[in-house]
Amino acid sequence: MKEKERYINSDGERSEPLPGAFPATRYQGSKRKLVDWIFSCIADLDYDRVLDAFSGTTAVAYRFKQLRKQVTANDGLKFNRQVARALIENGTGTVSAKKVSRMLALAEKNGGPPGVIEQNFGGIYYLDQENAWLDRIISQIAREKDETMRALLWSALGQSCLIKRPFNLFHRANLSMRKKNVSRSFGNKKTWDRPFTETFPRFVEEFNRAVFDNGQENKVCGADPRELAGEFDLVYLDPPYTSKRGVSVDYRDFYHFLEGMLDYRRWSDEIDYNSKHLRLMRHPNPWSDKNQITACFEQVFERYRDSIIVVSYRGDGIPAIAELQKMLGRLKRKVVVYEARDYRYALSTRVAGEFLLVGQ
Ligand SMILES: C[S@@+](CC[C@H](N)C(=O)[O-])C[C@H]1O[C@@H](n2cnc3c(N)ncnc32)[C@H](O)[C@@H]1O
Repeated sequence: MKEKERYINSDGERSEPLPGAFPATRYQGSKRKLVDWIFSCIADLDYDRVLDAFSGTTAVAYRFKQLRKQVTANDGLKFNRQVARALIENGTGTVSAKKVSRMLALAEKNGGPPGVIEQNFGGIYYLDQENAWLDRIISQIAREKDETMRALLWSALGQSCLIKRPFNLFHRANLSMRKKNVSRSFGNKKTWDRPFTETFPRFVEEFNRAVFDNGQENKVCGADPRELAGEFDLVYLDPPYTSKRGVSVDYRDFYHFLEGMLDYRRWSDEIDYNSKHLRLMRHPNPWSDKNQITACFEQVFERYRDSIIVVSYRGDGIPAIAELQKMLGRLKRKVVVYEARDYRYALSTRVAGEFLLVGQ
């Protein structure tokens, strides 16, 4: 059995085991593997109310919750807000194995007209029978009346979808990569081929195990952090990264399929049929725009000038770390910059240089 997570303080000492166990999520830019380091950098700070302004998988928000802080998790994507509802807001609700078995049994039954995925996504991400199964399980989940259970089920289905994807993304129509019988230097064909009927219940169990109550009223939001209401003692910012060459991560593009599942009735109207991989029509996002990202940082720092501000960013991006430090220094008495040396992102051979800026 996995050892219970522990909190490592600034002196590198290990404390009491932490409540809950964060699931093995796959997500671009997730800080899951950096959480211990991040929290060792901020161990001496004094705060209660926390905002994780770009919460993604909630890997960081979850650790704040484990430390009994009052947590608000905010993210622009619907799918991430379901995960935050399941793991951050929710303190008690879980999905029974009986309910999952009933859902699986109903989803096994064929019949009815083809759904959105079967109609549109043939040959793009999953095999035909998998597409049809997804349509049926989505309709089962959508019928679930309890919001928290729905959130747990969406979270589990999303992770089941991601582990079957080369690169764990929906950025290319590359089902052929999975189907080809060749030797590979990356990825895991065995995992890609594992049936949904095996992975989905496993992820439901994993998300169930992560549920615990920290005695606080924790919340989920979905706004641009520059415009979010509320007062926080500490604000953690982990926005999309823009490379030095000006290339940004557009999360809605990477995870459009999960967003579509969560807006199933309107999905076909929102697809950009000119794209080969049938992404959603694009919405402008200033946080993923090389010409606006620096102004976004300036505005968000100004918005939370009275809070402790903690920023995760890469060393090779726009703006540069020195510029972020200068911007924070205009508002904060003390700015400390930490570097996680030798950190490599999944599938990357380069050492990225991951930084944490703390402004008090
Ligand atoms: C680097 S990821 C955060 C990863 C997260 N800290 C984790 O450990 O999983 C950046 C997140 O910002 C979100 N995001 C991008 N633009 C946004 C916006 N305008 N408003 C709110 N969230 C946004 C994305 O959906 C993505 O989940």
